Amino acid sequence: MSIAIMCSGGDSPGMNPAIKHFVDYVLSKNLEPYLIYDGLEGLIDDNIRLASYADVAGIMHQGGTKIRSSRSKRFFDIEFRKKAFENLKKRDIAKIIVLGGDGSFRAMNQFYSDFGVSFVGIPSTIDNDIFGTDYCLGVDTALNKIREAIDAIRDTSSSFRRACVVETMGRDCGYLALVSAITSGAEICLIPEVCFDLKSITKRLKNEVQNGRTYIVCVVSEGTKMTQKMVDILENEIGMETRATILGHVQRGGNPTVFDRLMAVEFVTKGVDKLLSGCEGLVIVYKNSKFEFVTIDYVNSDKYSISQDLLLVADRLYK
Ligand code: F6P
Repeated sequence: MSIAIMCSGGDSPGMNPAIKHFVDYVLSKNLEPYLIYDGLEGLIDDNIRLASYADVAGIMHQGGTKIRSSRSKRFFDIEFRKKAFENLKKRDIAKIIVLGGDGSFRAMNQFYSDFGVSFVGIPSTIDNDIFGTDYCLGVDTALNKIREAIDAIRDTSSSFRRACVVETMGRDCGYLALVSAITSGAEICLIPEVCFDLKSITKRLKNEVQNGRTYIVCVVSEGTKMTQKMVDILENEIGMETRATILGHVQRGGNPTVFDRLMAVEFVTKGVDKLLSGCEGLVIVYKNSKFEFVTIDYVNSDKYSISQDLLLVADRLYK
């Protein structure tokens, strides 16, 4: 029997360890592991190769994905999905592990109802914005990248009586910004999920500066679009020279942390076992420190929300 792995959507650190473990694990079961290169686009274009140990040697520690990823518009079209199915059929591949986000899982669910190709989705995005799971592959590495950057920016800001505004990724989800602000000791955190009070933040910081504060760290999630506004407030109203840093794609690359490597191995092991035991389209989630399988409908039934406890811990940062 043949089983394949594919990455879809934005890459995340942990994908390479997942791919390596997939090949090793499937070979250990005397099955054929296939790698689908270039995501859904590669599935359509027949960029699918049988893998050996050598294909995945030396990638455990690498960020990104060796088999690349893509966002595919063509896959919305049944003609291209049919082409993709033919490519799998000629290799006897009827099961796929998909590393991606909810959009990719939806696409695979459609593919399953069209042609019966079963799959297990592994939530993989630095945004940590998938409903039903507390953790997505790559988040820990991204958080550590951000921590490293903020630690460095704080060193220089504090040496110069300056404020810094650090913009993190996350699309409409403020998880990366919130956790980074809490764990880096920031003074301000703006995320899309909360109603921040700029007047009260300004008053608080003015007061703190009068009482001896010499530098300010402000973390802003990209989804708020507040980076320039915060630079203006810090410069003009609080009166502190300010520099902005947009961290950008630095957050998405780099060597996966031990946690992400281990999560990759656990997600893949459980995902492959589930596929082999016979399943339709499922997503493996990590909820309350346990792995579980849920349906695509469940993952799509709501919007991910940051835990109230975490929001409360950071309460003073957006007031
Ligand atoms: O979804 C992951 C993510 O890195 C978001 O945080 C960010 O908004 C987006 O992808 C960037 O997309 P691209 O790599 O296409 O610029």
